[in-house]
Amino acid sequence: MTGSVRDMTLLDLDSVMSIERASFLSPWSEGQFRDELARLGEGRCWMVVEEDGRVIGFGGIAVFGDEAHVMDLAVESAYRGMGIGRRLLLSLMRSAVEGGASRMTLEARPANMAARALYASVGFVEAGTRPGYYTDTGEDALIMWTPGLSVEAVEAMVTADRGDDLVLAIETSCDETAAAVMRGGRELLSSVVASQVDFHARFGGVVPEIASRKHTEAIVAAVDEALAEAGVGFKDLTALAVTHGPGLIGALVVGVAYAKGLSLATGLPLVGVNHLEGHIFANKLADPALEPPLIALVVSGGHTALVHVPEWGVYHTLGETLDDAAGEAFDKVAKLLGLGYPGGPAISRLALEGDPNAIAFPRAMLRSGNYNFSLSGLKTAVITYVEAEKRAGREIAIPDLAASFQAAVIDVQVAKAVRAAEEYGVEAFCLAGGVAANAALREGLRVAMTERGIRFSVPTYDLCTDNAAMIAAAGHFRLQRGAFLGLDAEAVANLALG
Ligand code: KG4
Ligand code: ZN
Repeated sequence: MTGSVRDMTLLDLDSVMSIERASFLSPWSEGQFRDELARLGEGRCWMVVEEDGRVIGFGGIAVFGDEAHVMDLAVESAYRGMGIGRRLLLSLMRSAVEGGASRMTLEARPANMAARALYASVGFVEAGTRPGYYTDTGEDALIMWTPGLSVEAVEAMVTADRGDDLVLAIETSCDETAAAVMRGGRELLSSVVASQVDFHARFGGVVPEIASRKHTEAIVAAVDEALAEAGVGFKDLTALAVTHGPGLIGALVVGVAYAKGLSLATGLPLVGVNHLEGHIFANKLADPALEPPLIALVVSGGHTALVHVPEWGVYHTLGETLDDAAGEAFDKVAKLLGLGYPGGPAISRLALEGDPNAIAFPRAMLRSGNYNFSLSGLKTAVITYVEAEKRAGREIAIPDLAASFQAAVIDVQVAKAVRAAEEYGVEAFCLAGGVAANAALREGLRVAMTERGIRFSVPTYDLCTDNAAMIAAAGHFRLQRGAFLGLDAEAVANLALG
């Protein structure tokens, strides 16, 4: 790690002034810094980062009651992008919360994207603008602030940066009640999945009311079991992570309410995780070296999306399904064939014995020129085929039908995935979501990507469908980013990715 953080003194002023002048259009004067340093006991805190005896960055805050304001912060240009600003900010945040602040505010120039990204990376969110704030250019200032700051929250971020955070994650977005404990975002200590599938199977799909009720019944035991299996108690944890969307609202609410209750009772900070980001992070557990820029194909019971990930935490959805999600299509076709719920596993098993070329089903949107998908036409084609065969008095070869349907889904997904990877010039691709458990899809994408020299990642089979291990992995990342949920946070059924 570059540099060490310490308090600023008058002896640092020459170095501080040279960094200040090189960094800003309207730099502070030396007199202003002297005034600040004269007030160190009165809620002011100024720090520098030193490397080989040289000051390479500095920053300062003023604490007014429960609010700390970032006065100034800069890093010498040669040392930018090395995490120095982040370490300075975390040190200032620690001093702010220890001084009684529960939120931090600052002004940034809207055009200064590097500064905005730095502040966002420790939990600052944009709150509004201050018109005409910068007198030199007449520019407005962007006001940023950190909701939910506490001593525990800042400690947890520092611990996560060191990589020895212990996160308890909770997932209840659909029909699995899941809890997991993970260290440092990679070492899985326990992963409990209490499936409700038997209760939904007789209805041929997930019944939201049943899901909510079953989550309420199972969540306490799932969390207890995850802690016991990991051999840890609440006092050992660094933070809690919970899926707060997207998903069934009544199901999400159970996990979010329970996690908020735990956070209140234990004092542990709570971070919110997007379910789809969780699915993508399951890839980090199987392939820890996976790094963006990458393209992810997220295919589950509720979603089908091609996503460009230029860096972790930034997600550009290139295309989505216009109607049924991939898993939903598998489930609906399985229901039609009387194969039970969920349909994906049954269809992929039968497809192993069938001929994928037996029936020519449509490849919808294959040449649409965009990254959207449509699966309801394929579903209708299957229905029409089955009815026609029945009318003709022919017996349906279910394995051939399963293999042909599956091939029609996979062909389009592989073609669009390859085109996205090539258009965005990424060197990595990952597959995510419940349908990633489909062996033929995994194989099709693996061959297509590796042929083109693109790294291909896919989660282990057990971490494709809903689980809390993936929420813990994404939770570790969200913890580093200071993405805390307050006690007023709510579940969001259609929470957007990114
Ligand atoms: O991610 P997930 O567990 O839940 C949602 O977030 O929706 O995905 C469940 C979906 C179901 O539709 C299920 O049929 C599908 O994933 N699935 C499969 C396979 N295993 C599960 N689809 C195709 N082939 C599989 N082997
Ligand atoms: Zn899912």
